[in-house]
Amino acid sequence: MSVAHDFRGVPASSTPLAKPRLMTVADAKRLEPKTVADLVTTHMNPGVLHFMKLLGFHNVIVERAEGPYYFARDGRRILDFFGGFGSLAFGHNHPRILEARRKFQEEKRHDIGMAFLSQYASTLAFNIAEISPGELDYVFLASTGSEAMEAAIKIAEQAQGPKKSKIVYAEHSFHGKTKGALSLTDSRLYRSQFRLVDNGVKVPFGDLAALEAAIASDPEIGVVVLETIQGGAGIIEAPASYWQGVRALCDRTGVLWVADEVQCGMGRSGKFYAFEHAGVVPDVTALAKSLGGGKSAVGAMIARPEVFKRAYGSRQTALVHGPSTFGGMGEACVTSIEALNILYDENLIENAADVGAHLKARLQAIQEKYPRLVKDVRGRGLMLGIELQDFSTTLPFGIRQLVATLDEKLKGSLAGFLGNLLLRDYSILVAFTEYNRNVIRLEPPLVITKTHADEFADALDDLLSRGVVKIVTDFLKAQRSG
Ligand SMILES: Cc1ncc(COP(=O)(O)O)c(C=O)c1O
Repeated sequence: MSVAHDFRGVPASSTPLAKPRLMTVADAKRLEPKTVADLVTTHMNPGVLHFMKLLGFHNVIVERAEGPYYFARDGRRILDFFGGFGSLAFGHNHPRILEARRKFQEEKRHDIGMAFLSQYASTLAFNIAEISPGELDYVFLASTGSEAMEAAIKIAEQAQGPKKSKIVYAEHSFHGKTKGALSLTDSRLYRSQFRLVDNGVKVPFGDLAALEAAIASDPEIGVVVLETIQGGAGIIEAPASYWQGVRALCDRTGVLWVADEVQCGMGRSGKFYAFEHAGVVPDVTALAKSLGGGKSAVGAMIARPEVFKRAYGSRQTALVHGPSTFGGMGEACVTSIEALNILYDENLIENAADVGAHLKARLQAIQEKYPRLVKDVRGRGLMLGIELQDFSTTLPFGIRQLVATLDEKLKGSLAGFLGNLLLRDYSILVAFTEYNRNVIRLEPPLVITKTHADEFADALDDLLSRGVVKIVTDFLKAQRSG
């Protein structure tokens, strides 16, 4: 006897499952900061709230975001110089990106495309290859920077084979938190007590002689993995001569060079890839962050054909490393295709170079004005770092003790204080760095103008003019008032 089914295939006569007490999208949009904090504490990560509070991030609820601005529920417009650590090259909700996504949805196009060839993924691969210099022609699509770096590490290791399976990485590197990428990430905090892959060899960043010595002393080394500009280390660059030396050394020894451009790529440095400033091309590279246009999760690994063919070029090896479920999703690819077009149509790479040079000059003038507070200004394009002086010994004893009770990390670091007060008093958001707590990282959208750069520089100048004691006491007052 046939049983009547409703459209979900559930027998119509069965008792429906009681719906759990779920919150709705409308509920989510209405939540108050205090409730969000409670939910984070109960269901996500309570410790994170402590850091959010130190930086004054905990009581801001963003209603809307557009261009370089967040619009908070309390009516404030916040200038975003954090930029999602480089994920917002196009600003928030770029109209062309929204339109491309809206159209894709209205046409009811498909997203999950594991069964058929994808016209969207293949077009995105073409665009990335078209932009990439030299022979960087083979593209693997991923959903995060870590996944793109996993793909980069794996293709290089697979191409080199088991006799050349050791991988050189740099001090203060950051390549992601999945286990392979973490194994080449030089962070005691993130490595924690995990059992990681043990084929890494660490060298100082930017030291060609050290890299040369490592490769000469160990014939098993087959790969070198380096961020072109180290972001997590506090915006650290190596000179062009270093990259030219890396290229020549790798050519001489048959070692493959993998360039991590997840943070510094996509035009942020004033060239599409930061390695282009040195006029050399790696064997493998990786993009993510802004590749998703600020609206979707897209990463990419790009390799030379010869490397790709050695790794996965035969029928037997073609499926060794295929895309994961969400690699190359339709709408995500369309978002990236539109984003790459915008990058050139709106001259955003030139804008990054131009506005970045203006901002850096303003920051250097501020450093000259406040040498006791600002130690260094570095970086290029719209990937800039401001290193502050360690004030742990110059602060009056009583205030120093008060600061020490707040958090260990704030002891000698002005960055947290300045970040908190820039947000509270000037409505400007900046980012911090993993390894050097005394560096403020600026990675604003590439759509900003010199006016935005001046707004930031004027605010920083005004804040620093308060002097270190007032900055610290203002911060302490802000903490007390919650
Ligand atoms: C240089 C670099 N590589 C890899 C990653 C990992 O990217 P994701 O956070 O998307 O996994 C990051 C993220 O900050 C990064 O900066």
